[in-house]
Amino acid sequence: MNRIYIKELNKHTGKEATIKGWVDVRRDQGKMIFFDFRDMSGKVQGVILPGAKDAHEVGEKVRPEWVVEVKGKINKRPEKMVNKNEENGDIEIEILEIKVLNEAETPVFDIQSDGHEIGEENRLKHRYLDLRRPRLQKNIRNRAKVLKFVRDYLTDENFIEIETPILTKSSPEGARDYVVPSRIEKGKFYALPQSPQQYKQLLMVSGMEKYFQLAKVMRDEDTRGDRQPEFTQLDVEMSFVSQEEILNLTEDMFTKLVKEIYPEKKVTYEPWPRLDYDEVMKEYGTDSPDLRKDKNDPNELAFAWILNFPLFEKDKEKGHYAPSHHMFTAPKEEDISKLESDPSAVRSYQHDMVLNGYEVGGGSIRIHDSKVQERIFDLIGFDKNQKQKFEHMLNAFKYGVPPHGGIAPGMDRLMMVFENEPNIREVIAFPKTGEGRDLMMDAPSEIDETQLKELGIKITKDKK
Ligand code: AMO
Repeated sequence: MNRIYIKELNKHTGKEATIKGWVDVRRDQGKMIFFDFRDMSGKVQGVILPGAKDAHEVGEKVRPEWVVEVKGKINKRPEKMVNKNEENGDIEIEILEIKVLNEAETPVFDIQSDGHEIGEENRLKHRYLDLRRPRLQKNIRNRAKVLKFVRDYLTDENFIEIETPILTKSSPEGARDYVVPSRIEKGKFYALPQSPQQYKQLLMVSGMEKYFQLAKVMRDEDTRGDRQPEFTQLDVEMSFVSQEEILNLTEDMFTKLVKEIYPEKKVTYEPWPRLDYDEVMKEYGTDSPDLRKDKNDPNELAFAWILNFPLFEKDKEKGHYAPSHHMFTAPKEEDISKLESDPSAVRSYQHDMVLNGYEVGGGSIRIHDSKVQERIFDLIGFDKNQKQKFEHMLNAFKYGVPPHGGIAPGMDRLMMVFENEPNIREVIAFPKTGEGRDLMMDAPSEIDETQLKELGIKITKDKK
């Protein structure tokens, strides 16, 4: 018999059906054994009646989390047994046959609860079990809906999805790079992308005009509640676009997304407020203010834009200027003349997207004039050597570059806020710990001597 998903069982009332899934709960009442079964689509109650001898025999052994195939009759529950608050609360499977597909040890922790009470190390070590809990099932399934929504939205707006390399050269986003040794060219390294920033700009030079990618990016920086060493950006870039158009597109996409996927939530401000960086800093002392009207309301989403950022911030250690977003961000036209004479007064076309006190996205209009780009390189103190690292950008910019700009919303942070979670690890299937470890896979880990030799690498430091 074909397997029926639990969610579809009510269409089979009065008939026989076969389900496959896990034993969620088992209640042995002697003559009758009750179960809750679950599969990816939902839960349902089943009962082995005293007459079903073979099923009874198996049912006595079966424990929670065992994987089973159950054949039974889908009965309507008698009126007084109907539970309106429960999924499939009006039906019950009268179990005729139960087959064990796989036994299970007792899970190392409770997977029925929301899990907040369980030590996180334990949860991450056994993440495959942790992910079974309803809260995480919901987070990961909603994440898929959100990713599908943005993918469909942008595709409908004539964007094309383009994958860019993971083995690449450093992109200067301000964090440390993760590096990968080259076997063929010993002593040389790839860097993992801190963002596809340079690639997406080069795609604009290539005439792609409207690009997006659900990009995995990596930054070797200290991990916090809203930071992971690898995370997902909805990376977007457009040609012939104004800042206004980038903001409108992003705002429309996320407002519609909330209405469709989180109809219970309310976007506090429509349109999203567009706030001046200086004023926000003065009023809130942070550039990612929490603008909710009621901070106890789990269904309030206060999106806002922060604009008119200074182009540079003074790097106290190095004594020169550092880009406040990244070095490809365009200065406002009216401020270009002040670049050398009064750098700290130059405003930029950076835009930050904030939500409930988190920076959930950042982007800008880019420099598309190689002469201006070189002036920025000089101002941030690049020597000839450092400039050479960006020769490909300066070269590309000799061949007809459309004015362009974009944004990269951080999907993990957005999901964290949408799901009212306290940190982004709760919305990532396999996150890393604060120390950057994957406790389930036990990474990072040592590699074989032969691998090291092949790569021409000698470990000089004592192992921890
Ligand atoms: P930026 O560096 O501002 O911009 O990153 C964009 C967004 O990514 C999210 N984010 C993170 N999320 C989780 N863990 C992290 N470690 C982490 N770091 C950043 C934030 C942030 O707003 N290339 C540019 C974008 C552009 O200019 O188009 C960039 O990467 O939500």
